[in-house]
This record gives sequence, C-alpha cells and structure tokens, in this order.
Amino acid sequence: MMYNFTGKTALVTGAAMGIGKAVAERIAEEGANVVLLDLPDKTTGGISEKFRETIEEIEALNVKVLAIPADVSDAENVHDAFEKALQEFGTIDFVVNVAGIAESPQPLDEMDYTILDRVYRVNVRGTFNIDKEATIIFKKQRSGRLVNFSSINGITGYAGPYAYNASKFSVTGITQTLARELGPYGVNVNCVCPGFVWTPMWQANDEYLWSVEHPGEEYVPMTYYMKQCETTCLNKPTYPKDIANAVAFLLSDQSSNITGQHINVDCGLEFH
Ligand SMILES: NC(=O)c1ccc[n+]([C@@H]2O[C@H](COP(=O)([O-])OP(=O)(O)OC[C@H]3O[C@@H](n4cnc5c(N)ncnc54)[C@H](O)[C@@H]3O)[C@@H](O)[C@H]2O)c1
Repeated sequence: MMYNFTGKTALVTGAAMGIGKAVAERIAEEGANVVLLDLPDKTTGGISEKFRETIEEIEALNVKVLAIPADVSDAENVHDAFEKALQEFGTIDFVVNVAGIAESPQPLDEMDYTILDRVYRVNVRGTFNIDKEATIIFKKQRSGRLVNFSSINGITGYAGPYAYNASKFSVTGITQTLARELGPYGVNVNCVCPGFVWTPMWQANDEYLWSVEHPGEEYVPMTYYMKQCETTCLNKPTYPKDIANAVAFLLSDQSSNITGQHINVDCGLEFH
C-alpha cells in the first residue's frame, strides 16, 4: 500500500475493462471498497461476462465490491446507482468517472451529426450525470474527491476525431467549473488526460487503421499504436496501470492542494 484508502468507498465508472478496470484495481489495492459501474449486458440487461471477470478479480483483493450495470448517459440509471452505493456503504468518498467512447477519425465534411450526438451522450452527458450525483453527496459531506476523464484531445485539437475532441474539451471545462463550485466545500475536482494507452479502445483504433491500409491482410497488433508512441518524449507505451497510478495520487492526501487541473499522463506529448 502506498496511500492506504482503508475505510473509504470509491465509485468508478467504465470499470469492466481498460483504464476503468485498472483504476478500480489500484484503488482496491489501497484498501478501499469499490462501487463499479459499467454498461448492462446487451442480451440479459444484467452484468456482462467481461464485467463479471473484473468483479471476481477485484473481490480477490479482499475489499467489498458492489457492481451495478448502468449506462452513465442515463440519468435515472446513475441516480439509482448512487442510491444503491449509499445504502450499501453509507458514504462515497471518491468518484472516478472513466467511462467514455471514441469515434473513428474522419473529415468533418464526411461526418454525420448523429456521431456527434452519440459521442456527446456518453462523454458529456455521462460526465454531467455522474458529476451531478457526486456534487449532491460531496456538498452534504463537505468532503470528497472527483476525477473526470478527459484526454490529450481535450487540450489540443488533433485532426480526425471531431466529436471526441469536442467532448473531451467539454470535460476539461466541466472539471474547472466544478473545481470552483466545490472548492468551498473542501472537495477537489481534477481530470486526467491520457495520451496513447493500450486498451480495448486503442486496439479498436489500431485494427481500424490496419484494415484501411492493409485490407485483407492478417492484423499485426500494436502496429499503429507503437508508431504513435514513438512521437512522445519517452518513446514508450502507456498501460492502464500507469493511468491508475495518477488517479490514486489524485485521490490521496498527497494531492490535497491540487484542484481544477488536468494531469497529462502521455509520456511527454503535450506540455500544457
Ligand atoms: N485509451 C486511450 O488511449 C485513451 C486516451 C485518452 C483518453 N482516454 C479516455 O479514458 C477513458 C477510458 O478509456 P479506455 O481506453 O479504457 O476505453 P475502453 O473502451 O477500453 O473501456 C471503456 C469502458 O467504459 C464502458 N462504457 C462505455 N460507455 C459506457 C456507458 N455509457 N456507461 C457505462 N460504461 C460505459 C465500456 O463498457 C468499457 O468497459 C475514456 O473516457 C477515454 O476517452 C483513453
């Protein structure tokens, strides 16, 4: 243990895989009980197989786990999830809002507005829903830590994923606004801006780029991902656990004077 979150409760969204899973694991390793949210299984409406595997891995760390199938873009789902978490644990100390989606890059003149709506629904409305419920609880408690998930695409406009860029700039802005609103209540609000992280999200991107440039050829994993990593100062990949370490710091007493910030975990891609 580095920070010791024993006795704390953390709610993490997008927890079934990728960065959200690593964040939930990292927090559990520090002894906190965790409330995990991820999308309901498309067929059963319950917990998906992938989510179940993650739950079992985290339960093995000897903390209490409450797993809730919920869509962050659905306000009622999110409200019910926070109610259940409070019933189970009495308090929520940390909220980490990881769930997000991306779209395949394309020029704006070829893009349909429905893509903008789809990405905004999860990345912006989802952040709004989670942050709103966290705000209600944290104001009452006069304590809490909130970490949102932006991106390097939320501080610099990269060519291609128009809707994703716009949605992540929104998350950076929401974070700054909320830091001002919740500061007087002793609540810290920050966001993380990951660079290139090898997760199912990046793998989908890698496979898409391969299919465009090598149609019909057998996919070679990480081809485009590693090319992107070569553009960073440190010239190395980032894994979900690297992001989870930054989140653990932002939840800890070691960062109690940090609020309203975006923390880049990008091997030195962006300097602002
Ligand atoms: N992977 C990267 O390189 C990278 C870079 C910058 C920012 N990010 C951000 O980090 C976050 C996590 O990314 P990732 O790469 O782990 O993604 P991922 O696609 O690998 O995993 C995302 C998780 O969120 C869940 N999710 C998606 N929509 C949801 C919804 N509406 N309600 C509840 N859960 C939902 C998914 O089921 C999945 O478990 C995202 O916000 C993403 O934008 C990722």
